[in-house]
Amino acid sequence: MYILGIESSCDETAAAVVEDGRKILSNVVATQIAEHRLYGGVVPEIASRRHSENIYAVVDEAVKKSGLTLKDIDAVAVTYAPGLIGALLVGTSFAKGLALAAKKPLVPVHHIAGHIAANYLSHEDLKPPYLCLVASGGHSHIVEILDYTKFKVIGRTRDDAAGECFDKVGRVIGFQYPAGKFIDDASKNGNPNAYKLPKPVVNGSVYDFSFSGLKTAVINMAHHAEQVGESINRDDMAASFQKTVAEILTEKTILAAKDTGYKTVALAGGVSANSGVRELLQKECDKNGFKLYMPPLFLCGDNAAMIACQGYYDFLAGKRADASLNAIATLSLENI
Ligand code: KG4
Ligand code: ZN
Repeated sequence: MYILGIESSCDETAAAVVEDGRKILSNVVATQIAEHRLYGGVVPEIASRRHSENIYAVVDEAVKKSGLTLKDIDAVAVTYAPGLIGALLVGTSFAKGLALAAKKPLVPVHHIAGHIAANYLSHEDLKPPYLCLVASGGHSHIVEILDYTKFKVIGRTRDDAAGECFDKVGRVIGFQYPAGKFIDDASKNGNPNAYKLPKPVVNGSVYDFSFSGLKTAVINMAHHAEQVGESINRDDMAASFQKTVAEILTEKTILAAKDTGYKTVALAGGVSANSGVRELLQKECDKNGFKLYMPPLFLCGDNAAMIACQGYYDFLAGKRADASLNAIATLSLENI
């Protein structure tokens, strides 16, 4: 079965064709990062306009590169939530028109379910149930993957998402948007023990995250250094910050896996590209006898192959959208 996936929830216009949920035939991503970088973050209206300009060409290229024609496609899967509303509306409207014109079923896909599904594209043996740490620009979750289309969120962030924290801290210490990759690179030249940074205590669910205290601590250190005419060592701060985030994410995930009894753990979302997070989580999973699955770097960030993959499983589960499909800016994984 061939699924055409379409993704436009943030600043990447993407389309892909995936066979039987596991094999990528094409994967096209048009990124807008360079333009948003000028403003230090994503400008929603610019994002919508660029999606609108690019989506036809991106989808056309994905179909051509797959070696198929539109006639061979079995269903169109599209990200309808969560994300920037204007950006999502471009993808959903385009997908609706295409599905209607080509007489194909339309499958609505949740963006975070897509990030999780990126793991199926590179790990043939991965099957639910398992536990997944999702860390992206907008979300930080610990999720029980009960089945391909059934999720239970047992940990969530109380404030900033992990990727958002990378981006905000990065801006203060002088990196361009999005700062995650720059911090990752700089941390390789820095001392991770140079700065002592706080790990938040979160009341309530032991699996919940909080990153705003860590962010504020880095900002205060940078401002204090400035006031006394000094500057922080950027590489050392990057390394210290990355180590702290990796520890927070890993400790909670390992605790959740131990408590729930899952022996299989996966990582997903843009921050899953982070070398510090990947290394520490791998080390701790090995120590505890858990098998860890991580997406390859090219599938960590936003792409449509992951949407086509999740769309395949949603299709098999009978999920369909009609011409009234709307985009939703905020939607829990548990309500899809
Ligand atoms: O999943 P994603 O592409 O978009 C959302 O759905 O939010 O995640 C983007 C986030 C950004 O905050 C970016 O800084 C972060 O992922 N990111 C990284 C790395 N690469 C991307 N964070 C840390 N280390 C990286 N290597
Ligand atoms: Zn994403």
